[in-house]
Amino acid sequence: MEQREEIIVLDFGSQYTQLIARRVRELGVYSEIMPYHISMAELAAAHPRGIILSGGPSSVYADDAPLPHAGIFDLGCPVLGICYGLQVIAHLLGGEVERAPRREYGRADIEIDDHSDLFQNLASHIDVWMSHSDHITRLPRGFVVMAHTGNAPIAAIKSEERPIYGLQFHPEVAHTPKGLEILANFVLKIAACSGNWSAEAFVDSAVQEIRSAVGDKQVLCALSGGVDSTVAAYLVARAVGRQLTCVFVDTGLLRQGEATQVCDFYRNAAFHFVFVDASQRFLRRLAGIIDPEQKRKIIGEEFIRIFEEHARKTGDIDYLVQGTLYPDVIESVSVRGPSATIKSHHNVGGLPDKMGLRLIEPLRQLFKDEVRRVGREIGVPTEILMRHPFPGPGLAVRILGEITQERLHVLKASDKIFIDELQANNIYDEVWQAFAILLPIQTVGVMGDERTYENVIALRAVTSMDGMTADWAVIPHFVLAHSANRIINEVKGVNRVVYDISSKPPSTIEWE
Ligand code: XMP
Repeated sequence: MEQREEIIVLDFGSQYTQLIARRVRELGVYSEIMPYHISMAELAAAHPRGIILSGGPSSVYADDAPLPHAGIFDLGCPVLGICYGLQVIAHLLGGEVERAPRREYGRADIEIDDHSDLFQNLASHIDVWMSHSDHITRLPRGFVVMAHTGNAPIAAIKSEERPIYGLQFHPEVAHTPKGLEILANFVLKIAACSGNWSAEAFVDSAVQEIRSAVGDKQVLCALSGGVDSTVAAYLVARAVGRQLTCVFVDTGLLRQGEATQVCDFYRNAAFHFVFVDASQRFLRRLAGIIDPEQKRKIIGEEFIRIFEEHARKTGDIDYLVQGTLYPDVIESVSVRGPSATIKSHHNVGGLPDKMGLRLIEPLRQLFKDEVRRVGREIGVPTEILMRHPFPGPGLAVRILGEITQERLHVLKASDKIFIDELQANNIYDEVWQAFAILLPIQTVGVMGDERTYENVIALRAVTSMDGMTADWAVIPHFVLAHSANRIINEVKGVNRVVYDISSKPPSTIEWE
């Protein structure tokens, strides 16, 4: 197969590393993140067309500074250092980096002194986003300054001998409006990539790969009704058709009407479809449980048990499909290492080992928006593709306190009203996630002439790129008012509605 064009981003721990890879992909070029300490052999094996060194929180002169192998400059492909990455270039190639007299953080205006390659077709002054405390005080031999600011005499550099460039600012963030053009100059001109990586190209190569990996073996997949597992299953079905069996378990913790809607859709798919209604089993196991982590654990265990029971009926299975996405993969390879488990995630963890299955993760190279594009390409309907993410443990982590049939009913009915209102007002697709939460308290109200003492529903809607950070969504007051009014009037047992205005961090998106 023809070698795919690839730009490698070496991660030095910047909060923007993922964003760099996303931007390169927006330019139609496949980009992958690797830890800064990757071996030269592995790096060379990827045949990168270019290497981008990310920013990072360290100082190159610190004893334990993360530094890549100096051989990266001899691979022959162009290198671009961003912020800390620029300082890495200066430090490794004989320049000098010191603490700046003043931290530079936020917007800055740079003046471009050299309009060749990296800055071609840009105006003389551009707005950029700076975030650094160190700066270069002496350039490495053979390097020249390409841009400066009032504060920083060295805002961008390049080697006159080799295609090595460095930017003190962040071209990947939205606060650098011309940033994508600078990255395009690096990726498409300097690294000479053609920019032909697309959803269509991805589907073709994924289908081929799955087909040759699976051969005539049987494949199993746990469908959740969400975007990731559905797109993963559709891709695998396109490759191996009815060698794939998909199991969809109704935990009873799904949103109102969801199980029926999802079943109707899957029944027409090109794979074997197995539906299991296990709602009563889950309710029984969750009776009296209040602790969120315990809820997650019980749901995870029960899910695996049910899945196994049904998988065994399918016969000899060799492979398990999982809808793992690139951000999950990056988590485990990033310089920070696997991040501390803040919430234990459910999905089908543990299953492959237990059942001796090999994994197929056809989406492990993709970001969420790319998964949606691939889904569109292979005919997954928009209703499924545009669904908000939904946690594996479902409504269990949105019912604070005990989960009972009655409390599930109150939450499902309230959630449905909120979502219907968002859809009716064209807000649903604008937000990353929106939902209702049932709080474990009761408050006083008055209905007619009677005092009530009933439940509180919290509404949450957030905007986000990837779920890692999020802002609360500014929903028009009339939509909130109408949702609250309907919930209080139509859902028996609710006499108060509040709107959550916390961002992540420091809050999380879910309440448990
Ligand atoms: P938090 O609440 O951690 O959520 O800000 C970030 C994203 O992850 C989803 N989430 C989960 N997904 N199992 C999942 O599969 C879980 O236990 C879980 N907890 C949170 C959440 O809905 C949001 O999209």
